[in-house]
Amino acid sequence: MLIRPRRLRENPVIRKMARETRISKDSLILPLFLEEGKDIKSPIPSLDGHFRYSPDRIGEAIENALRHGVDKALLFGIPACKDEKGSSAYAENGVVQQGIRKIKAQYPEVCVITDVCMCEYTSHGHCGILKDGKVDNDATLDYLAAAALSHVEAGADMVAPSDMMDGRVLAIREALDDNGYTYIPIMSYAVKYASYFYGPFRDAAGSAPGFGDRRGYQMDWHNAKEAAKEALLDVEEGADILMVKPALGYLDIVKSVAERINLPLAAYSVSGEYAMIKAAAKMGLIDEYGILCESAVSIYRAGADILITYYANEIAEAIEKGDIG
Ligand code: PBG
Repeated sequence: MLIRPRRLRENPVIRKMARETRISKDSLILPLFLEEGKDIKSPIPSLDGHFRYSPDRIGEAIENALRHGVDKALLFGIPACKDEKGSSAYAENGVVQQGIRKIKAQYPEVCVITDVCMCEYTSHGHCGILKDGKVDNDATLDYLAAAALSHVEAGADMVAPSDMMDGRVLAIREALDDNGYTYIPIMSYAVKYASYFYGPFRDAAGSAPGFGDRRGYQMDWHNAKEAAKEALLDVEEGADILMVKPALGYLDIVKSVAERINLPLAAYSVSGEYAMIKAAAKMGLIDEYGILCESAVSIYRAGADILITYYANEIAEAIEKGDIG
């Protein structure tokens, strides 16, 4: 026998040398939830181990992430008031804007990325402005641009539009450029499916649509070619980083988008992916640590360069221990 694949599996040193997928803590992003108010750190039942923090306490989550070696956060807001037009999404003193200022004042080295969307701020829970009971794409663009600009004015390092309106990357790019923020990158949720995997997040953020669903703007999960269409459009509109979301059920999409674009590719391992692992582990059915390591590596192996995950701290710890990476 000339060829024996097992030679490279003999011991840990050889196995690590021959690894094809390398991952770094630098590529991990931790989602965090900001709730309007004071002195809040309340557990999120649907995302076991995660909390909603008021801006005055968000530093605790950042501190903890930094201890693990994670220095990038993706911020979501839970405002005190919602209305038809999602006013607190672009309010100077909105909850996310307050949170950004807090984090940047205390931890200037942390990369603060903000989710830009209307659904957490609108009374109807849709990701845009309604007209005759439907989300009006073009009318929504100005609101998204205003939200993105207000985040950047508060000190955000990067904005991440997740609404899936057509043309929003360009609208945001123009608003940022017109105000002198030409150097602020946009990470676009370019390929975002209308997924059942977002369920736990919508409980966490209180952002489930009041009527109907998001299939009129988020993508149909029967489609793969459409991912290329969305990705290439956002490249043309000036996105700096593209994202595929969800991740685990969509590794084919991660791979095909990674092969087609020249931008860094992020994958978002969403709330449902996290919650399923947590629940199965709690029932004693799986080894949580092993599964979170293997899932993370599989997303990078498919072609992701950056991973947004509720397990960011745990993955960083696994990298530190040398179990993955
Ligand atoms: C906002 C937004 C959602 C998620 C990220 N940004 C919810 C949705 O589109 O319904 C989901 C994230 C997750 O499930 O972890 N539009």
